[in-house]
Amino acid sequence: MREIERKRILVTGGAGFLGSHLCDRLLAMGHDVLCIDNFYTGSKANIAHHHGEPFFEVLRHDITFPLYVEVDEIYNLACPASPIHYQFDPVQTTKTSVHGAINMLGLAKRLKAKIFQASTSEVYGDPAVHPQTEDYCGNVNPLGLRACYDEGKRCAETLFMDYRRQHGLTIKVARIFNTYGPRMHPNDGRVVSSFIMQALMGEPITIYGDGGQTRSFCYVDDMIEAFVRLMATPDDFPGPVNLGNPEETTMLELAEKVIDLTGSSSSLVFRPLPSDDPLKRRPDITLARARLEWQPRIGLDEGLGRTIAYFARLLTDKPHLSAVPLH
Ligand SMILES: NC(=O)c1ccc[n+]([C@@H]2O[C@H](COP(=O)([O-])OP(=O)(O)OC[C@H]3O[C@@H](n4cnc5c(N)ncnc54)[C@H](O)[C@@H]3O)[C@@H](O)[C@H]2O)c1
Repeated sequence: MREIERKRILVTGGAGFLGSHLCDRLLAMGHDVLCIDNFYTGSKANIAHHHGEPFFEVLRHDITFPLYVEVDEIYNLACPASPIHYQFDPVQTTKTSVHGAINMLGLAKRLKAKIFQASTSEVYGDPAVHPQTEDYCGNVNPLGLRACYDEGKRCAETLFMDYRRQHGLTIKVARIFNTYGPRMHPNDGRVVSSFIMQALMGEPITIYGDGGQTRSFCYVDDMIEAFVRLMATPDDFPGPVNLGNPEETTMLELAEKVIDLTGSSSSLVFRPLPSDDPLKRRPDITLARARLEWQPRIGLDEGLGRTIAYFARLLTDKPHLSAVPLH
């Protein structure tokens, strides 16, 4: 059903976890969506349900190379998001964040198109301030294993701000905190997918450190709602704006919830913390509440229930899948 005037919207990384949900949403709003992806971590299965739709197009393309298309708006999501994936080829990760941003900003400049950047809470590094507000400049180790992602995303934010100042571009920068839901990669080593996969397979659930470290988890539908609202804010509001769930959960609580909801008999095993793994992470979403009139609505139990149902289906279809205990 069309709600609004149809725009041509480019979604980079549109076959990934968040990108595919964003494509769903934009198509449901009546837009004409061009999804581009190099399928590094994304998959055709995530967008297969749109195959043959008249206002959906897919293009295999790597955003580290220039792209010439005609669109009205750009959502730049392309970039592997989980440590296991972005550390596999760290040089490519930096290239995707930095060259990719330059290419997409260049495209936006030529087209005078509004452009959205999927930035990340990782720009705060291991924060000395808790919870993090947008004016906190972060505490990132530029030499560590996570730096290809953290510094790449920081540089992308700089590029977005400079294109705004220097070329007058309309930009929207979202700092995304942990998001989960159906279509997360089952082997991405992130905590929600790992715990669910381990629980469903009856394997021990791996907890790093003592399990007292916290994260905040936002369900994907809430996050996509925030993207669309941010894009619709007046041109003089570039962000950055924190998007995430301010409710904190310890890893131990999460593991217990997953065991409960899956009815699994999995035990817990403890391993040392990986390097540069932040101990605390929670967004201050005061700005998002004020400017987007947004806050997460879907609670952890409901969101985990939907995610567990997705992974259970995946395991029925592909029983050879395994859990990767790294997050
Ligand atoms: N999911 C989260 O919790 C989270 C948190 C913070 C930030 N983000 C950001 O949101 C965006 C989407 O994350 P996601 O969780 O959907 O990850 P994802 O890995 O599922 O999706 C990323 C997509 O980008 C594609 N891609 C990677 N490099 C590319 C390139 N050079 N050219 C074209 N396509 C490329 C991948 O194939 C994949 O489809 C990323 O930019 C990520 O940094 C996500």
